[in-house]
Amino acid sequence: LESSNRNANVTQDVLDLLDTKQPLHTSEDFPSIPQPEIKAALDRLASRSMVVYETRDEEQVLLTGEAETIVEEGSHEWKVWEVVKREGKVGIKELPKLVGADSAKVGQGNAFKNKWIKKDGDSLVPVADEVKDTTRDILQGIQDTKTLSDAKLLTDLKKRKLVTLSKVISYTVSKGEKYAKEIPVEVTDLTAEMLASGEWESANFKPYNFNALGATQNSGALHPLNKVRAEFRTIFFNQGFVEMPTAHFVDSGFWNFDALFVPQQHPARDMQDTFFISDPPKADKPRPDPDTEAQLDAMEAGSRRLFASSAKRDTKSRDYEQYFQDIKKVHQDGAFGSIGYRYPWSEDECLRLVLRTHTTAVSTWVLHRLAEDPRPARYFSIDRVFRNETVDATHLAEFHQIEGVIADFGLTLGGLMRFLEDFFSKMGIEGLRFKPAYNPYTEPSMEIFGYHVGLGRWVEIGNSGMFRPEMLEPMGLPRDMRVYGFGLSLERPTMIKYGVSNIRELLGHRVDLEFIKTNPAVRLDKN
Ligand code: PHE
Repeated sequence: LESSNRNANVTQDVLDLLDTKQPLHTSEDFPSIPQPEIKAALDRLASRSMVVYETRDEEQVLLTGEAETIVEEGSHEWKVWEVVKREGKVGIKELPKLVGADSAKVGQGNAFKNKWIKKDGDSLVPVADEVKDTTRDILQGIQDTKTLSDAKLLTDLKKRKLVTLSKVISYTVSKGEKYAKEIPVEVTDLTAEMLASGEWESANFKPYNFNALGATQNSGALHPLNKVRAEFRTIFFNQGFVEMPTAHFVDSGFWNFDALFVPQQHPARDMQDTFFISDPPKADKPRPDPDTEAQLDAMEAGSRRLFASSAKRDTKSRDYEQYFQDIKKVHQDGAFGSIGYRYPWSEDECLRLVLRTHTTAVSTWVLHRLAEDPRPARYFSIDRVFRNETVDATHLAEFHQIEGVIADFGLTLGGLMRFLEDFFSKMGIEGLRFKPAYNPYTEPSMEIFGYHVGLGRWVEIGNSGMFRPEMLEPMGLPRDMRVYGFGLSLERPTMIKYGVSNIRELLGHRVDLEFIKTNPAVRLDKN
């Protein structure tokens, strides 16, 4: 309301002034009204043919703060001359106290050059009786006219940081053919009465403003991470994957590390990368948990629809204590054909609680469940993981992992590569490269690289491998069953697709809500 009132005032001011002065120049006649407001008022009048106007683009010369002080108080050299003249004689060391350090430094030299003062031993004495402060006069002229025709002088003043240039838009306004001292009353609605009485024929309708922007609508918006997550879920579902339940953010070292054959002294386990939970101090040993079981039942109901089950489910076949002891053995002494790591394995370390560092912790208890009824299966998850990392433009202490697991008989590494090529091509990433890598729980392991056209180089987009027998056999999975695993972050592809270069703009407290609201609901590009 306030701005529309002000707008009405500007409109009236323009009409008033045009009555006595024509044309008018907004830069001189309305110097303090912001350009967009003037333009809005002029457009309002022009659409009613009450004014016509032309736009002018000009460069204005503006004084800096220092220059404004000179206009008020005189130039540095003038100040020096003035004090020397007044005192008759001023010690050079005294000068800064009298005129300030800046004026003393700059002003002295110029006053010498102008032959206004001269040296007398350690002092300054006046030479000129009367002087003309040209610098001040020039700046005063600029302040009055906002222009300076002498190009050389202008460059010089800019260098001395006394003036700046700025572009201004102004308007030259004249009366239009329907000029009047006031905007006539305008009708905004066509009513039945007006039609009946014929008044519509002579009524003065308000022109329709086709340039007005509609009011911004408040609506819900999906976060880009959610949108890309939805795309990945679709790809997984289309390929017969079942979604794993990932509600456990906190897990024990057993499920996050030990059951995956990650040695207890592995660097990833120490304070560098893992957030340990101090309260409660310790997890229970792995045991059947009704909540987890219910989640796995629900997941399995989905999976059984896709893969015919051979055996009937028998919960008792999963002996948790045996599993726990087997994990200890495979680390400490070796078992299942492996020589193990041969170090004293600690139960306390294994039962420390952690914020899960990868969703492979979930894959592990899902595979342990699969061992009840071993059969080909495909599982995936997309959820949050936590790492005690230094936060920077590409790393956060929490992010999302996309994980896929495929269990079957007779799987080969070539099959994994073929699968991954197919999978990533569905996201528009073609021509993968694989690099041998190391994970404690997979052998062989491969980093996945994709060529990033924008960056013009190969970027790592994921990690993969075939789970080790040291992980699968203690679960009770058959020796000839092979399991692929792969993981990638959700943030990386989202950043590429939405052109975000700093991960902190995507996740966390610095995210700009406007970015969430305005990013496209659907991306039609597939790259
Ligand atoms: N857990 C791995 C990671 O955090 C990803 C992965 C999953 C690798 C499964 C191999 C097999 O990077």
